[in-house]
Amino acid sequence: MLRLEDVTKDFSGLRAVDHCSFVVPRHSLFGLIGPNGSGKSTTFNLITGFLRPTSGRIRFKDQDITGKKPYEINRMNMARTFQLVKVFRQMTVMENLLLAPKNQAGEKLIPAILRPKASREAEKENIARARVLLNLIGLAEAENALAGQLSYAEQKMVEITRAMMTQPELVLLDEPASGINPTLMNRILNYIRQLRDEHGVTFLIVEHDMRVVMNLCERIAVLNYGRKIGEGTPAEVSRDPLVVDAYLGV
Ligand SMILES: Nc1ncnc2c1ncn2[C@@H]1O[C@H](COP(=O)(O)OP(=O)(O)OP(=O)(O)O)[C@@H](O)[C@H]1O
Ligand SMILES: [Mg+2]
Repeated sequence: MLRLEDVTKDFSGLRAVDHCSFVVPRHSLFGLIGPNGSGKSTTFNLITGFLRPTSGRIRFKDQDITGKKPYEINRMNMARTFQLVKVFRQMTVMENLLLAPKNQAGEKLIPAILRPKASREAEKENIARARVLLNLIGLAEAENALAGQLSYAEQKMVEITRAMMTQPELVLLDEPASGINPTLMNRILNYIRQLRDEHGVTFLIVEHDMRVVMNLCERIAVLNYGRKIGEGTPAEVSRDPLVVDAYLGV
């Protein structure tokens, strides 16, 4: 699904990502972990086109996407969430979700005037999709609540749901469980598993919390100072001395 080949990113003198390579298989739950400042979010921004690599290539579904714009990559069915929650607080949960889908017929003024029916049909489908997803995460009742009135954990759930509205094949989640209590965290992890199992989505998950990744992901790459210092199953990674030293030891 995704392939990083020798990717490097320099920020005026600081090497945030250092010759990093890994492959995310289709339909997998792939984790990217590492201490603070190890280059996880930068890697995300490189994959999603928010940053351009200094060198190296990134391939998505066998196509070279290096240097493409975020909207071009998004159109190829890749979606993301941000480390800090970005919901529109003054809008309802449903309104937040309806903002996401691309190619909305009502978006272009002329088709909306000439073909109001097509526009309404598309909106109906999007509402139906949103309700399926809200049901899955247990937020069906909150459809008309203002997003800003939801708990922090629920806002994260809305953000993941919004990423799902574009019918993505690959979803990148930046710290989906940070700052969330264990019960709600399990709800989010189950949601992610279900989205993979029932909607066939591939996930690349950045997490600081080792337990989350160990619990959820089938394969993990470990970054330290921008370098990949280990990769494997959770069991393999957790007994890799380099990883234990750099990450678990702290
Ligand atoms: N836009 C930028 N300009 C300059 N330096 C940056 C920029 N973005 C990130 N960095 C630096 O690059 C390094 C990697 O940062 P990054 O945010 O990718 O780490 P992270 O692994 O996501 O950390 P965290 O766990 O704190 O979220 C850090 O030293 C950071 O200060
Ligand atoms: Mg980060």
